[in-house]
Amino acid sequence: MSVSLQDQVVLVVGASSGIGRASAKLLAREGARVMASARRNERLEELRAALSAEGHPIAIHAADAGVLSEMEQLAQATVAELGPIDILVYATGTNTPDRAMKRLRPPIWDELIAVNLNGAYYITQAVLPAMRAAGHGLLVYVSSVSGHTPDVSGAAYQASKRGMLGLAHAIRVEEKENGIRTCVVCPGLVDTEILDKRPVKPDSATLAKALRPEDVAEAIVAAAKLPPRAVITEMTIVPTYL
Ligand SMILES: NC(=O)c1ccc[n+]([C@@H]2O[C@H](COP(=O)([O-])OP(=O)(O)OC[C@H]3O[C@@H](n4cnc5c(N)ncnc54)[C@H](OP(=O)(O)O)[C@@H]3O)[C@@H](O)[C@H]2O)c1
Repeated sequence: MSVSLQDQVVLVVGASSGIGRASAKLLAREGARVMASARRNERLEELRAALSAEGHPIAIHAADAGVLSEMEQLAQATVAELGPIDILVYATGTNTPDRAMKRLRPPIWDELIAVNLNGAYYITQAVLPAMRAAGHGLLVYVSSVSGHTPDVSGAAYQASKRGMLGLAHAIRVEEKENGIRTCVVCPGLVDTEILDKRPVKPDSATLAKALRPEDVAEAIVAAAKLPPRAVITEMTIVPTYL
């Protein structure tokens, strides 16, 4: 039998658009107490207003995932406003049109690694002590099929996404004795704003067949609803046509 998410405290990082936004919405509709974070506060305000109108109030907190102190403050603010964190969803990510090695430069590499990988580590490090004390916790990381299958998404992006698989699996092995589970999600093409950062955006026929952010959010919620004795350690979700 699935576990209720009612009143579980969920921190969603990367909640201003795409997969993170869809996850925050679905989790709030499941009755979770959601903290939604990203940099664009106006987007977070819009999300909060939309969910509030549905009868699902959430908390918001603007923060840059690539900055350690901001992730630490985010974890503290979540506990202060909502209570101890039961579930973390790290859906933050970026890419660059300058992804090919002929165009990639060190500042771009640094930004991708900071946002896609370092931030996941920063927020995890900040939430883990309380999860250990509670004896439970679920850490969900949104990686990509690019994390396990070579493609043209760029060296920095693929390095960050492969790194995220290592992060998730290493933490699970270390923390399972504390009741902490990790789940790394590897989506294929999803129709979200990150596609605007491709050198060439997929055409409308391809986008029509792509996943929608809500599809990935459904998979995340399904993982979160498993009883504590079970964990989906890694899942790949791709459009059916592939
Ligand atoms: N779309 C796809 O085809 C696809 C496929 C596989 C994996 N993914 C992965 O899915 C995850 C979510 O991406 P998406 O597709 O939903 O794209 P998206 O709509 O562009 O969402 C990206 C989210 O990350 C946040 N973000 C970016 N830089 C940030 C920073 N420095 N600090 C805090 N938040 C930051 C954005 O918020 P702000 O800009 O407001 O900060 C936004 O909420 C990413 O990790 C992406 O790599 C996407």
